[in-house]
Amino acid sequence: MLQNPSSWVNFATMQLLEGKVASAAIKEDLKNKVSALTSKGKKVPHLAAILVGNDPASETYVASKVKNCKEVGINSSLFKYESDITEEMLLEKITELNNDKEIDGILVQVPLPKHISEKKVILQIAPKKDVDGFHPLNIGNMVLGFPTFISATPFGILLLLQHYKIETSGKNVVIIGRSNNVGTPLSILLSRNNNEYGNATVTLCHSRTKDIQSIAQKANILIAAIGKPKFVTADMVKENAVVIDVGINRVKDETKKSGFALKGDVDFENVAPKCSYITPVPGGVGLMTIAALLMNTYKAAEFND
Ligand code: GUN
Repeated sequence: MLQNPSSWVNFATMQLLEGKVASAAIKEDLKNKVSALTSKGKKVPHLAAILVGNDPASETYVASKVKNCKEVGINSSLFKYESDITEEMLLEKITELNNDKEIDGILVQVPLPKHISEKKVILQIAPKKDVDGFHPLNIGNMVLGFPTFISATPFGILLLLQHYKIETSGKNVVIIGRSNNVGTPLSILLSRNNNEYGNATVTLCHSRTKDIQSIAQKANILIAAIGKPKFVTADMVKENAVVIDVGINRVKDETKKSGFALKGDVDFENVAPKCSYITPVPGGVGLMTIAALLMNTYKAAEFND
């Protein structure tokens, strides 16, 4: 619980970056765009999602992607495979979807079982249908600021900053975590001057970084994408910082019917009173990721027309 009365004063000025609000606005706009597209006689955008195995978190994410497509009028097809599907069969399915004119966007949910090479899967997806933005060609275009699909999580974070009009230019941004899908692309997007949300001075911290605490303390915008619950503690956060929590960790919780609670990488209760803005978990970045995927799927349909 919050004990310190001075914290309560700040708490009142802290604003939640609500993925629910920002993603609802994006989805409303997309819904109108999809209906405008189809009223011009164009086909309905169509996402193909591939899910391998029974990872409960992946099942939940993919189900949510399919549900959200429906909400904005985008068609989706879900292809589910047992975890023993061969790499060859999976690659063949991707080729089939690459050649299917009805399909605009393809995503293969990761992680994949160990016997399937994620790298081969990413390379197999036609870049023009790669709505996850994982293909090297799309990553290269992103780095250079050319038109492309930006991966859903970094794109969703930029959209969240945009929705709440949070300036990045000239700011110190510290990102904790250098994954291919989040930390690395985000460090590029926020530091470049070829998009609306660049021009920041970015420090990318990782497992070999010395004294993360003192680096994090200098951040105007602190982004945690490390996958460790409560990794970011109050002593790591500058007063009035903007804190973006990308973590979605399943933590044992006997009081929940499911047996677990979703917790971010940030010790929200103690960090929030110091912040100007902070994302909740759940209800923050996760919802933005889905909105970004929908935007990419719409864009794929426009491109592929
Ligand atoms: N697993 C976790 N996040 C993602 C994502 O953005 N795309 C895919 N394909 N798999 C994921």
